Amino acid sequence: MQHRKIRSFVRREGRITKSQQAALDKLLPLYSIEVKNEEKLDFGALFERDAKIAIEIGFGMGDSLIKMAQNYPDINFIGIEVHRPGIGAILNNIHAHKLSNLKIITHDAVEVLRNHIEHQSIDYLQIFFPDPWPKKKHHKRRLINNEFLAIVKDILKPTGYLHIATDWENYAESILELMQDSSHFQCQSNSAELDYEILCRPNTKFERRGLNLGHGVWDILCRCK
Ligand SMILES: C[S@@+](CC[C@H](N)C(=O)[O-])C[C@H]1O[C@@H](n2cnc3c(N)ncnc32)[C@H](O)[C@@H]1O
Repeated sequence: MQHRKIRSFVRREGRITKSQQAALDKLLPLYSIEVKNEEKLDFGALFERDAKIAIEIGFGMGDSLIKMAQNYPDINFIGIEVHRPGIGAILNNIHAHKLSNLKIITHDAVEVLRNHIEHQSIDYLQIFFPDPWPKKKHHKRRLINNEFLAIVKDILKPTGYLHIATDWENYAESILELMQDSSHFQCQSNSAELDYEILCRPNTKFERRGLNLGHGVWDILCRCK
């Protein structure tokens, strides 16, 4: 029997502005990376330079990723998102700010990481405010689970790190439990003495929404053991 794939997102089109749609029509070929068959991405060729690679999964409207690409011009950034209004918005910003160190992929990130990224090739993987899927019956849709962490372990460089932020306490707890049981990662969470050399994370739209609802924020930083 064919099982339906459980994904961490549902494609809700939502409202798309004229300028976001125009960006999808005109700018997508300029700033997006196509993933094909089982081909691995060649970052040096895509960015026409060798540099550290940071991948962000689920950049939403992309404001914080744009700021990071501006703040760290020596790092090559790849944003992965499936939400079309957000993709249109970030394309307009990449174009307006003439950013040559940021490209996007419009595909399920789990498949991208599993099929198209060379092992031990990523310096930073960031996931800011992933969909929390708060109902218990939907927890199986949460992006961060054991299967996902096994893929992350393979693609991160031994010196690389994974940075997750969430405003859902129960999601933060479940991620930390997964990490404790994992023989692959060592983590720090909201520690005053973070000794990892981290890329600073600007505030995001969903973070502001969570804070307005009175939620806390948990930053979880993990290195390969
Ligand atoms: C709650 S939003 C957070 C957006 C943004 N990071 C922020 O903090 O404002 C989560 C985003 O992750 C995207 N997403 C979820 N699962 C994904 C996947 N497997 N591949 C790509 N994007 C995904 C969703 O489309 C959504 O835009």
